[in-house]
Amino acid sequence: MAFLADALSRVKPSATIAVSQKARELKAKGRDVIGLGAGEPDFDTPDNIKQAAIEAINRGETKYTPVAGIPELREAIVRKFKRENNLDYTAAQTIVGTGGKQILFNAFMATMNPGDEVVIPTPYWVSYPEMVSLCGGTPVFVATTQENKFKLKAEDLEKAITPKTKWFIFNSPSNPSGAAYSHDELKALTDVLMRHPHVWVLTDDMYEHLTYGDFKFATPGEVEPGLYDRTLTMNGVSKAYAMTGWRIGYAAGPLALIKAMDMIQGQQTSGACSIAQWAAVEALNGTQAFIPENKKIFEGRRDLVVSMLNQAKGIECPSPEGAFYVYPSCKGLIGKTAPSGKVIETDEDFVSELLEAEGVAVVHGSAFGLGPNFRISYATSEAQLEEACKRIQRFCAACK
Ligand SMILES: Cc1ncc(COP(=O)(O)O)c(C=O)c1O
Repeated sequence: MAFLADALSRVKPSATIAVSQKARELKAKGRDVIGLGAGEPDFDTPDNIKQAAIEAINRGETKYTPVAGIPELREAIVRKFKRENNLDYTAAQTIVGTGGKQILFNAFMATMNPGDEVVIPTPYWVSYPEMVSLCGGTPVFVATTQENKFKLKAEDLEKAITPKTKWFIFNSPSNPSGAAYSHDELKALTDVLMRHPHVWVLTDDMYEHLTYGDFKFATPGEVEPGLYDRTLTMNGVSKAYAMTGWRIGYAAGPLALIKAMDMIQGQQTSGACSIAQWAAVEALNGTQAFIPENKKIFEGRRDLVVSMLNQAKGIECPSPEGAFYVYPSCKGLIGKTAPSGKVIETDEDFVSELLEAEGVAVVHGSAFGLGPNFRISYATSEAQLEEACKRIQRFCAACK
């Protein structure tokens, strides 16, 4: 009898965590490494949010909370969805989890039966297929193209849907490509979904507040109210409020699904950290002044990185609408010989040779299901980004 569960054989470790780990090891050996692998803002959590957490501790808010979250946070979530997305939910239709990750996991746990399919556009956030597989479902990948700015075409979504499709995962702005769908682009997809009433929509709106220029964020339930009864709208405070370590994510959706997720969470972690929940109340209800300030900084970094990468020989880098990632192609380097003498055959070779030669850590696109590309997180200082891009330019010029 095998000791470890068969389900583990279907799951891969996170490539993004592996890159950060490799960069840390090289740094520990004294190498000058610039890590562009991490998916978290480099800013500190705003003071008003930290203060709310300190006050919660001092008030003694240190006990178990209701599994689905404290009423104050669930009310704040109701208001947030109304204010920012024009979505009407009751507090009972919301749930708070330990990060967006737990929300997603429990949504799959609550709904997956063997043979159920989940449509996932590529490139995708690394955890989607692994979560689906762990919960016994089958990921069905649909490729996007760089020419279409990594956005899914309606006809490709239509072709991927079968009678077994349970969920369609939508993530805009996207990790890893930064691509974000306008209202009209999203409407083309929701029109398809309206023709397939058995398909549920899991929209991961984690990067909602990180869009640039005059781009206007849109979410499926807002664009197509007809999807309300089969949409789970997921969001969180991790990225918008620089609160990755606090571990608070949330969602709203049909009551029966929320109740099922609540039941699972009750046997799993119970309510999320009480102190972090009070901090999240302040994040959602308090001043939002921090968000436009951060966006401005991220936008400047995006423009810098896109411009410098497009000057690197063999690299092509589209300028995405949001998140803090770019997803350039390294197709022009495939078949070239790196300074070490190794021929670059894949995007994985490209990133490992880049790390060896220049000490720049990025994540290969094949980890996100679409290559030959790589992901750069620009959630780091402009000086570091400039230096990293110079090194990438030097590396590309040295590949013959
Ligand atoms: C697209 C996407 N969804 C969800 C998450 C998970 O967020 P959290 O840190 O709140 O669990 C991340 C984090 O990297 C993400 O990039």
